[in-house]
Amino acid sequence: MKIRLASAGHLSQLPPLGLYVHLPWCLRKCPYCDFNSHALREDARASRGGSHAPSGRVHVLRNAVHALHPVPSARRGEATDTAEATDTAEATDTAEAPDAAEAAPSAGADPGLDVGATSLPAALEQRYLAALQADLEAALPRVWGRSVQTVFIGGGTPSLFSPAAIEQLLAMVRARLRVAPNAEITLEANPGTFEADRFRGFAAAGVNRLSIGVQSFDDAALRAIGRVHDAAQARAAVALAAQVFDTFNIDLMYALPGQTLEMLERDLDTALSLSPPHLSCYQFTLEPNTYFARFPPPLPDDDLAAAMQDLVEARTAAAGLRQYEVSAYARDGHRCRHNLNYWEFGDYLGIGAGAHGKISSHECIVRQARLRHPERYMEAAVSPAGAVEEERVLSAADLPFEFMLNALRLVDGVPADLFEARTGMSTARIARMLDAGVRRGLLDEDPTRLRATALGRRFLNDLQQLFLEETR
Ligand SMILES: C[S@@+](CC[C@H](N)C(=O)[O-])C[C@H]1O[C@@H](n2cnc3c(N)ncnc32)[C@H](O)[C@@H]1O
Ligand code: SF4
Repeated sequence: MKIRLASAGHLSQLPPLGLYVHLPWCLRKCPYCDFNSHALREDARASRGGSHAPSGRVHVLRNAVHALHPVPSARRGEATDTAEATDTAEATDTAEAPDAAEAAPSAGADPGLDVGATSLPAALEQRYLAALQADLEAALPRVWGRSVQTVFIGGGTPSLFSPAAIEQLLAMVRARLRVAPNAEITLEANPGTFEADRFRGFAAAGVNRLSIGVQSFDDAALRAIGRVHDAAQARAAVALAAQVFDTFNIDLMYALPGQTLEMLERDLDTALSLSPPHLSCYQFTLEPNTYFARFPPPLPDDDLAAAMQDLVEARTAAAGLRQYEVSAYARDGHRCRHNLNYWEFGDYLGIGAGAHGKISSHECIVRQARLRHPERYMEAAVSPAGAVEEERVLSAADLPFEFMLNALRLVDGVPADLFEARTGMSTARIARMLDAGVRRGLLDEDPTRLRATALGRRFLNDLQQLFLEETR
């Protein structure tokens, strides 16, 4: 058979466009976290001191953190409910893990970090907003004339920004981009970084969806993973979000250090008793270059982790939340539109430290990555050099894998013709890989959809690899 090789990236119609904004600071770096997030107090101090000559503890923390945002592992797929993620192709920093004394889990006791402070210093906030504005302005030619369907403000801990700063950010975005009137505007919030007025302020600023990083409702489990909040704060945050926002998400993790099936059952009971319209439930993973990679805590074995995943699926289904992606469950009408656009291989502009973007034109598809360190990012964004550290045109060899990495995470998959619409390549280009997937029982036989079978979802990496191996 002759295969027509349509030129990759020559699209007749451009995909929907989302905007991702990365706000990189947290109260403290969690010992399992590979996101591009930075302990606030250290950066605030470095920013005030104006010195770039790191020493002692500041140096350790500076080198300890980065991983590219979006989340690099397929586990979290394109998104934690957070946004972005399936960009496995992205490099991660070879950052060293923090010293035990710097980021000890459950330390609660790190004397250098002021976990009582729940706001960014105003001067840092304004510097970062100015950098975001310059970053967006430099990116505008790539998205001229297109309207933005969704905005996702992720982190880091965006709820450390004041409502006034979030309002300023959204006004700045609206003045430069056409944001659709019904756009979904999500903000990630951590329990322990807000009070009622703050949540109302975010809503008044235009945020219409809150994603709350609960992780667990068990105090011992939260301490074991070094979180700064407790279960009572998590419950209070969710109750408030339910009052203030049209819709919200709870982020949970399972297979936590020392967790039993009964503990997870209690976590799910509590989460579901709060009637979340959306739940993201990620398997806890040891990521390279984190504190836990160096000092791994005892984790549930694979069988127990699989039983936990089954429990999550059963409990959410019984509560009327439908699984629509590997880690995402939602009531009708409450799926995360921003993340769906990633999984459907839509476009997104990413601004902020370490943010990634994927932008199509009629000629090609480009991936971009911004500088990751907040200080370097802020400097570069307002300079003629700009904040983009890496820009790459996707090739015909990249596209099948990149498309499938996203699309096959969706429980219902995608219409088969979406492949051609989003990549500009003929489906015939991947016919042999599709056959191999069907023969191995990993892909659905229905020719009108590209969809993983239940077995394919369980062995998703194997299925996705089919599209990698045969194209390179
Ligand atoms: C980068 S965090 C941003 C949200 C917020 N900063 C927080 O941590 O609550 C997004 C989500 O990714 C998930 N996550 C982060 N690291 C993880 C890991 N090592 N394993 C599994 N899930 C992880 C958590 O559920 C978290 O809520
Ligand atoms: S709060 Fe979230 S983003 Fe920040 S360090 Fe912890 S897991 Fe990472």
